[in-house]
Parts: sequence; C-alpha cells; structure tokens
Amino acid sequence: PAVGGPDAVGLRFDAVAPNFVDAVSVPAGYTSEPVIRWGDKLFSDAADFDPANLTAAAQARQFGYNNDHVGLLPLEQDEHLMVVNHEYTDEVMMFGGYDAANPTREQVEVSWAAHGLSVVAVTGRHRGPRNGGLDPVVDHPLNRRFTATDEFELTGPVAGAELVRTSADPSGRVVLGTLNNCAGGLSPWGTWLTAEENFNQYFANADGVTDSATRQRLARYGLPGGASERKWERFDTRFDLSAEPNEVNRFGWIVEVDPYDPTSTPRKRTALGRFKHEAATVSLTPGRRAALYMGDDERFDYLYKFVTRDAYRSNDVAHNATLLDNGTLYVARFADDGSGEWIPLVTSTGDTATSHVPGMTGVEVLLFTRQAGDAVGATTMDRPEDVEPSPKTGVVYVALTNNTARSAAQLNAPNPRPSNKHGHVIELVDGRNDATSSTFTWDIFLLCGNPEDEDTYFAGYDKTQVSPISCPDNLAFDRHGNLWISTDGQNGTIGANDALHAVAVKGSRRGQVKTFLTVPRGGETCGPIVTDERVLVAVQHPGEYGGASFETRLSSWPDGGGQVPRPSVVVAYRLDGKKIGHG
Ligand code: FEO
Ligand code: CA
Ligand code: CA
Ligand code: CA
Repeated sequence: PAVGGPDAVGLRFDAVAPNFVDAVSVPAGYTSEPVIRWGDKLFSDAADFDPANLTAAAQARQFGYNNDHVGLLPLEQDEHLMVVNHEYTDEVMMFGGYDAANPTREQVEVSWAAHGLSVVAVTGRHRGPRNGGLDPVVDHPLNRRFTATDEFELTGPVAGAELVRTSADPSGRVVLGTLNNCAGGLSPWGTWLTAEENFNQYFANADGVTDSATRQRLARYGLPGGASERKWERFDTRFDLSAEPNEVNRFGWIVEVDPYDPTSTPRKRTALGRFKHEAATVSLTPGRRAALYMGDDERFDYLYKFVTRDAYRSNDVAHNATLLDNGTLYVARFADDGSGEWIPLVTSTGDTATSHVPGMTGVEVLLFTRQAGDAVGATTMDRPEDVEPSPKTGVVYVALTNNTARSAAQLNAPNPRPSNKHGHVIELVDGRNDATSSTFTWDIFLLCGNPEDEDTYFAGYDKTQVSPISCPDNLAFDRHGNLWISTDGQNGTIGANDALHAVAVKGSRRGQVKTFLTVPRGGETCGPIVTDERVLVAVQHPGEYGGASFETRLSSWPDGGGQVPRPSVVVAYRLDGKKIGHG
C-alpha cells in the first residue's frame, strides 16, 4: 500500500496504487461487481442485450449508455430507488462498422433511446449479512426510463416565453427529451436534480442563423456553425438551428424528477438559469430555505447559487414542488483576499422574472445566464464541476477539473495556476455559514497533481504520504464528513486510470488524499455514493481513448473475453461485512 497508518474513521483502508489495468481495483479486503450495465433490462418485456443488433425499441426498455450521476432514495429495508442519468453516446464504440459521416436512422434512434435517465429499484435484501451487493429489481412498479424523445415540462418564468416556442410546441412548455445529463443531486424533499451539460453538441447549423443577437448567444454557448457530430439534424429538424432556432433554448437546464411518483412528468426548472449545468446540490439554510450550488463546466465559466424564496416543508409534496420556481439566482465573484460576493442576477416569482442585470430582461438572464455573468464581472473559473456542501460543516467544496487554456496573464486568486492541467478544489463558506448570505470566504484546499510536483498542495499535509490525484470531477461525503472525489481525465495527465479518492477535511489527517478505487482503462469515475455498507460509482465510457471503436475494443470490461465494453454502475464492499473505511 502507498499509504498506511491510523487514518481518520472512514479512511482506514490501504490506498490503491495508480495503475492502468482493465478492471475496477479496490483495497485489500474489499470486492466489487457491476450492479447494472448498459443494455440490462429494466422491464422483462425488453429484448436481451445484443451488441451486434442494437434496436431503439430494446434500448428504450434497457439501461442506457454512459451512466454519470447516481443517487439512492430509500424504499424499505435494504431496497432503494436508484436514479442514474445517461450523459451521452459514443456511436463508434456502440455500433459495428459505424460511418460517422452517414449514420442510419436506426442508429440515431438507438442513441436517442440510450440518452436520458433511468429510475430502477435495487435490492441487497437477499444477499445476506456479509454481502453489500445490489441487484436491480426488474419490473419494479417505480422503474422508469426517460429518453431523448419523452415529454418534459418547462416550468418557471421561461416556460411559454417566445424564445422557447417552436413549430412542434407553440406553447413553449413541452420539451421532448433531456440531453447530456452530467452530475446531479438529491433534494431534501425526495426529488432528483439532474443537470443538462453539453447540450450544444446536438444542434447544427448556427451559421444559418442571421439575427446578430441570436448568433452572439449561440457563440457564447459553443453551438457549432455547421453539421453536428452525430448528424441528428438529418432525422429531426428540431436539431437544425437554421430551421428551429428556439429548440436549443429548451436544453441546458436543471431537471427535477419525482422518482416516487411513477406518473410524474419531469420538470426543467428555468429559474435556475441556463448553462452547461454540472450538478445541483442542496443545503438547507437555518430557516429551511434551500440553497442550490451549481457549476458551469466550461473553461473560464462561472459558479452559481440559487436560493429559494420559501422554506421547505416536510411531507408537503405540492408546496415543495413550487420551491424551485421561486427564488434568486446568484453568480460568484471572488476577491483576492479570501472573501467573495454572490451577485444577484435574477429573482423569479412563479411566471415572472425580475432582472438585476442592466440591459437584460429577467427571461434573458435565465436563458442566457452566461452573458449575465459576463455583464456583472463574475470570476472566471477552471471548469467548475461538482459543487457540494458538507452535510457536517456546511463548507462548500468546489471541484475545478482543469483549464489548460489559462495563461499566466489570466490568473486570478482562486485559479492560481497557468495551464492548469490537474485542477484543484476550493473550500467556500457562506457568511455566517448561512446560505442566504450574499458574501462568502474561501481558500484553496487542494492543488492536484503528482505530489512530487512543486506546484501541488494538499492542504498542508505531508506530500510524501498522499496519493496522486488529477482532474477532480464529482464530489460526495461519507457519514463522517470525509470528502470523496472522483476524477475525469487522470489517464491523460498522470498516466493512470481514473479513480475515486477520499480525503479528510478536518483533524490531523486533513489533506491526506488516499485512492479507494480505480476504474478500467479509458473510463471515467462518476456518481460516487459512500455509505457504511458500500461504495457505488458509475464507470462511464470504459475503453474510450485514442483509436477506440466497436471493432478495436480497447477495454472489454465488465464482461471480459473481448466483448464490447459496457458503461455500468459498480458497487464495492468489504468481504468481512464491516463498515467501509473502519479498519
Ligand atoms: Fe459531464 Fe463536466 O462532466
Ligand atoms: Ca462530470
Ligand atoms: Ca456530488
Ligand atoms: Ca466529466
């Protein structure tokens, strides 16, 4: 083991060494296994997974591709409702003989069905006392799939606005599908918040738009001038900006899902602004209002907070369903002295939005939030990913994945490294430790990389006693308040598989990063959940690196034997049945 000794409770395991094996690696005394894989059935009427013959009809009833966020909501005993989103598809790895210049209609429809969301019950009840494994419950009455063609409702001030009306939906309220859902969070009122991130990649022909204000907006959100990567515009004109300039305005939102109500329609909450949403995680203020922390995962983009107008009420489903339509959206401006301000951008009240940004209407601020952030001088960040408040201390942790484009002339105090390829983690505390405050203080917790590199920093901890870490992405906390950090891109920076690391944030071990788990080659570690019984991660895009295709199969995880790699949710647990990280 790279690191040992009497660690903080929850972190008493032998760190996994950096590696490049085609497997999930866990500490000695632990084991891991897939819970559910791309193509596994949620319903018994689905066809069996057949990688040589994918069909849209089967995929719509099976677990989707490229799982990212994972949440567990309680059912009974050791049964849980697992919510998982499916960020994107990698067609060249999914389809044999894929011709990227000329995809077929069936391939495109499979991709539509492989995107979206899964809600699936999982159970560990039959596994016995020393087995933390979980299995999907096929045909559970709460199981659901949502794809790129299912109905979602727009709510809040942008719903019905001119800029979201299309020829297929003159009401501007009913959107087909959710795309590129990345990280997410669970609300205290039992709903799932999932984040539409790189929605720009699905839309084509921005060059065909003539209106100059529209063109500027499209450029700020990175919409391609010509054809899209997947060519969906050939099969549905809503993906063609020159034909339907408003369809793109219906993506890039935080989506709220009520997994406990199998008849509910998921809602895109427009009061939370539109950008490349990475996640939304919630803390409750002393007055029981909800504060949602959100990143916009782009180089030089911003960090946001939404604070609800109203307090959350236990067991009042109808009231809680209105919380995210009423409140104020803020953007962060950091000062060099360790202080900072949350600058109000827009206040939403049901259907109306009051702008705090000169020259923009409230609806414009919600739709083109990046431009509102530009206008008020928000602080440019190094790809703000997961932003998560500690349930123990209220301290908010901000994962900044990397930003190799930042020059020495563009440095600012919270983003202090030029060509920042390893990323860093910031700690932020709202004034009075109350999320309604419009001020905060901050410090740098980690400057990631190989610990022997001069410019790394592990909260002052002895750098000979830490694991290397690069490209911090998703965050989670265990019951003891330790921070768990998953990575996206370590393979390209420190030459080792992506990983799930854990680190104490308090006490004598503060800053001692230890690797708990590594994922197979080419994979990214997503969606970590850490409980006493088990650790869950989503292994996203296994085998996806240079030269990957259906034919080359640079990974054959998890099925082995040269089979196609399958993005899967994995559970790790102890072989002796004791608690995770309790030594
Ligand atoms: Fe989908 Fe920002 O990672
Ligand atoms: Ca991510
Ligand atoms: Ca998280
Ligand atoms: Ca990522």
